[in-house]
Amino acid sequence: MIFNCKCLKPSFSNKKYSYWEKRKTTSDEKDIINKISNDKDLINKNILHIGVGNSELVQKLDSSNNIFGITISNNEIDYGNSLKLKNYKIFFCDKYSLNFEKTFKNHKFDLIIDTNLKSYSCCQNAFDYMMEKLFNLLNYEGKIITSINGMKWFKSLKPKLSFNFKSFFYYKMKEVSGNPNNILNESELKKICSIYGIKILFDENLCYLIK
Ligand SMILES: C[S@@+](CC[C@H](N)C(=O)[O-])C[C@H]1O[C@@H](n2cnc3c(N)ncnc32)[C@H](O)[C@@H]1O
Repeated sequence: MIFNCKCLKPSFSNKKYSYWEKRKTTSDEKDIINKISNDKDLINKNILHIGVGNSELVQKLDSSNNIFGITISNNEIDYGNSLKLKNYKIFFCDKYSLNFEKTFKNHKFDLIIDTNLKSYSCCQNAFDYMMEKLFNLLNYEGKIITSINGMKWFKSLKPKLSFNFKSFFYYKMKEVSGNPNNILNESELKKICSIYGIKILFDENLCYLIK
């Protein structure tokens, strides 16, 4: 995977790493689900979900929507595919990598959902790159929904060989402390949105970035 920075990062693409496929949806994403699952306008839309986790979110949306998901865990992809949901495709794709632009080069979205925009970023370059690509992927009046709480924490992921009696040896992504600069404050968000002419709206626990 190629990045526009020189940070050293583990690659998770070569094996089936387990991460969030069997874990509960985060409360940050629950806030998003509560909002969008009652949205009558979310019919026949193109939607991108970044960080699919256990794929609960997509199951709360109307099946007329065309939904793409990305993750850096192959086990999350296998789990999502095993649900056999209509109009749902999941890709292995690191949102901070150059591959992100390539994967969606022929796509535009009405809605992009990313509960943690910056939490896993290796550096500022990688984050700025991703934000530019995210805004490019939006249709006119399209929006990104993110969680305000999701801006307040950061993590890094490391490969780990683990053991349990059900799976014996298996690979998992271990959470370790990340980059404290990945706390995303309002002024940084406002600055980046002003560069790209994006409107920001804060509502309860959520933040909307609107093209
Ligand atoms: C803590 S889990 C949360 C899962 C789900 N979004 C939720 O809130 O319940 C983080 C998710 O982000 C994904 N993720 C982490 N870093 C990523 C990256 N650089 N590119 C794409 N997805 C990433 C993980 O694979 C996982 O699906």
